[in-house]
Amino acid sequence: MDGNGRWAKARGLPRTMGHRRGVEAVRETVRAAGDFGIEYLTLFAFSSENWRRPREEVDELLRLLKIFIRRDLADLHKEGVRVRVIGARDNLSPDILGLLEEAESLTRNNQRTTLVIAFNYGARDEVARAVRRIAAKISSGEVAIDAVDAECLDAHLDTAGIPDPDLIIRTSGELRLSNFLLWQAAYSEFVFLPCLWPDFDRDALAQALAEYASRSRRYGGIAREAAS
Ligand code: FPP
Repeated sequence: MDGNGRWAKARGLPRTMGHRRGVEAVRETVRAAGDFGIEYLTLFAFSSENWRRPREEVDELLRLLKIFIRRDLADLHKEGVRVRVIGARDNLSPDILGLLEEAESLTRNNQRTTLVIAFNYGARDEVARAVRRIAAKISSGEVAIDAVDAECLDAHLDTAGIPDPDLIIRTSGELRLSNFLLWQAAYSEFVFLPCLWPDFDRDALAQALAEYASRSRRYGGIAREAAS
């Protein structure tokens, strides 16, 4: 969800206004994803590197996340959205942690769409966390060293049980992954859109899905028509 700051700057507004408008785009995108039958939608809401931003911007991002959960959780639950949160939890304030856990536990059994909120998330961090979890199990004898393979690592990531993303969309014209789902993105398709996140809407999502539908996914093999 890149480009909030530039959206605000282009209008002579403080960066925080771009983030506020960005939350509107989040609401529209979650609704549209459900309507389009997307089963898993992951939003990169706050990275483990975002703490380096100016204090007032960090405070505003945390405030917006809290408001989003407080105001929208009941509606998300009614619409059958299951919320999962990925990212480090150990250094979060108790109020944020409480809200994230409440969102997960209230919506645990919903089945229409899973909204994965990547918060305080960094992919390298996540892989290191998974390795620590596995190492603890090896040291307690619960897991044998020889049993550590890609599937085992997968099962110890924050995203355990969530399928790898088919499509990753980045807005604002930047052509980077920026420490997002590095392990899970091994075979993902990428769509980079020039629009800034606050301008992202149902039509932009439909456009990205149409682009995705035109791709041929081979997972290291060859196209089915070439094989026959
Ligand atoms: C990147 O734009 C965006 C972020 C770092 C935060 C995204 C957060 C939201 C849209 C709001 C909160 C999220 C939820 C789920 C309620 P940028 O600030 O890096 O933009 P720039 O590159 O133009 O400066």
